[in-house]
Amino acid sequence: MSILPSDSHYDLIVIGGGSIGLSTAYHATKRGMKTLVLERYGFFNDDGSSAGASRQFRLQYAQRYMAELCLAAQSWWADLQSHTQSTLIGLSGSVWFGDPDVSSQEGGIAESERVMSALSIPYTKLDAEQIEQTYNFQNLPTHDRGFFQANGGIINLKVAEQAAYSAAAASGLAEFRAYEPVTGLSSDSAGISVSTASGTLTADRLAITSGAYTNQVVAHLGLQVPYFIWAMSSAYFRKTDPGTQCPTWFYFGKEKDYYGFPEVPWSYPGYIRCAPDFADKVISDPADRPAGPDPHNLALTSEFVARNMTGLDPTPQFPATCLIALSSDSTKELLLDYVPSSIPNNKRIVVYTAGWAAKLIPILGDMICEMLTSDVTDFTYNNFSVPQSNFSIGWRESSDKPDLSAVPVRRVRK
Ligand code: BEZ
Repeated sequence: MSILPSDSHYDLIVIGGGSIGLSTAYHATKRGMKTLVLERYGFFNDDGSSAGASRQFRLQYAQRYMAELCLAAQSWWADLQSHTQSTLIGLSGSVWFGDPDVSSQEGGIAESERVMSALSIPYTKLDAEQIEQTYNFQNLPTHDRGFFQANGGIINLKVAEQAAYSAAAASGLAEFRAYEPVTGLSSDSAGISVSTASGTLTADRLAITSGAYTNQVVAHLGLQVPYFIWAMSSAYFRKTDPGTQCPTWFYFGKEKDYYGFPEVPWSYPGYIRCAPDFADKVISDPADRPAGPDPHNLALTSEFVARNMTGLDPTPQFPATCLIALSSDSTKELLLDYVPSSIPNNKRIVVYTAGWAAKLIPILGDMICEMLTSDVTDFTYNNFSVPQSNFSIGWRESSDKPDLSAVPVRRVRK
């Protein structure tokens, strides 16, 4: 697409080489774009939102458009799968259970059942006794209930990133630069420029996919995305009973939520990963992240494992952390938008951040490229159309003080 190719001019620069940035690069190279990916750390790192080995794939959502996107994502996962011998999603199924009166940003049992029924997504309702008989859970309040959805699974996150990276690299159109943070950014009538320690690069288009680091990048344009960052912990628990196995699961507790995964050969075989779905600390700048996993939150997870799970040693092992940007506007699951029209070339600069987006890795790369190459108001996949406004960013100025007192409640009991 470049008229005057030069070493430092690209059709697209992607800032942020995590899972969504790599997927964007893959989809851009499929469109014939000479693409540069800039990553502040090493590729496949554990320093931000793409930390850890596993993520949940699921179809159930309280928002119909999110369930529609997950349905559409399945064929995009199949496409990415064709670039690797390793399995990207282990289809263990997904069980959601717990207090039916809890509704959270992640969904909520009744709301998600309504959306699945409306979209003819099959699921099986389960009461507390059935959940205990079928999976390795125990001591559930009798009032608890839930469902099993067979298309859910466990995403091999690092292999998904590697598949996108190698597919983009194999095109011969992609360049990847690690340990090259952005030091400046401008967009004017002369075009889009990105500075790093090694010089100034120019591009026809720019994708900013920097996760929790996005506000450090868009500050160069005088902008701020209203999000806050959860620093989170997780751990693995040793199987004491070899027969212990479960689908991916999410538990909506009376007080707190937890989630977990099946045992997989590619991440601490013999162990099962379980995690608290609450923050160790809520921050606005990744520099303020805690030094390590939160012992109190790991202790609460251990108590949950001891009280409510069977066949596991409740001692947390291999603890890890990740950072997740979450939209300050609780009506928005994911934030994906053009920069404001006050910025020249705004329809050629797309920002994605915030939300639990791993399940959408391959389709989000395509959505970002669609926005970069045409003026998108709706994303049309399968037989539905998802308005872009579902993801719009309420832009703020970089000089505005981030307001953590306005962090929305992400979980309510009806
Ligand atoms: C999700 O699937 O969106 C999710 C899973 C576990 C924790 C938080 C979110």
